[in-house]
Amino acid sequence: MSESPMSDKAVLSCRNLGKSYEEGPESVQVLANLQLELLPGERVAIVGSSGSGKSTLLNLLGGLDTPSQGSVWLAGEELSALGERARGLLRNRALGFVYQFHHLLAEFTALENVCMPLLIGRTPIPEARERAEALLKRVGLGHRLSHKPAELSGGERQRVAIARALVNRPGLVMLDEPTGNLDHHTAQGIQELMQELSSASRTAFLVVTHDLNLARQMDRVLRLEDGHLVPI
Ligand SMILES: Nc1ncnc2c1ncn2[C@@H]1O[C@H](COP(=O)(O)OP(=O)(O)OP(=O)(O)O)[C@@H](O)[C@H]1O
Ligand SMILES: [Mg+2]
Repeated sequence: MSESPMSDKAVLSCRNLGKSYEEGPESVQVLANLQLELLPGERVAIVGSSGSGKSTLLNLLGGLDTPSQGSVWLAGEELSALGERARGLLRNRALGFVYQFHHLLAEFTALENVCMPLLIGRTPIPEARERAEALLKRVGLGHRLSHKPAELSGGERQRVAIARALVNRPGLVMLDEPTGNLDHHTAQGIQELMQELSSASRTAFLVVTHDLNLARQMDRVLRLEDGHLVPI
């Protein structure tokens, strides 16, 4: 296990991160020698063309995929040094993750989907329901609590996924295209929620987006280009 190279306050850091995929005899290097550090309360946007590796990067940083090179530290813990179970517990405690394709549980209602991370973390059911309901109301879905994902619009599903990522009050939330299906007004509401949580609770946000209006409102914008992150 190597020691975190950067600030000990960082909620997320990575060093020399690389990812390549073997395609038959060829190896495709998607990310190479990539560095990143996120401090509490920081809001960082990642932009980049389609196929540049943004989802790949988020999956590595969130411990959903393993790097070909380099290391990731989440809440001070090196992901590769943890077993699968410990990594799962760390992710449940320290990280909220909004997938590009939301990944809600189809057989559960919006409210149950949002309760899930709390129930996994053994929060009592009444408290879990109360917190989940409050967050769903905050993202404008108070009237859709008992709808299942198939009964929700694309933008509504995205907002359920955002509520689910926030419900455990993690120190860091990663979002992959969170506003892709949202109109300007609703997207702005999500932006304001991130701003509020970052200043009130020092929650850090790492957001992949094509929405330049959203990106410009963050503290930093980085472009993923040729496998590296470049400040813009
Ligand atoms: N499992 C895999 N095997 C082989 N190649 C892959 C695999 N997953 C992703 N890739 C390739 O890696 C590159 C980056 O993919 P990724 O999904 O990270 O892009 P992205 O920047 O998120 O794109 P988008 O903006 O379209 O979501 C793509 O060229 C993709 O084809
Ligand atoms: Mg993607």
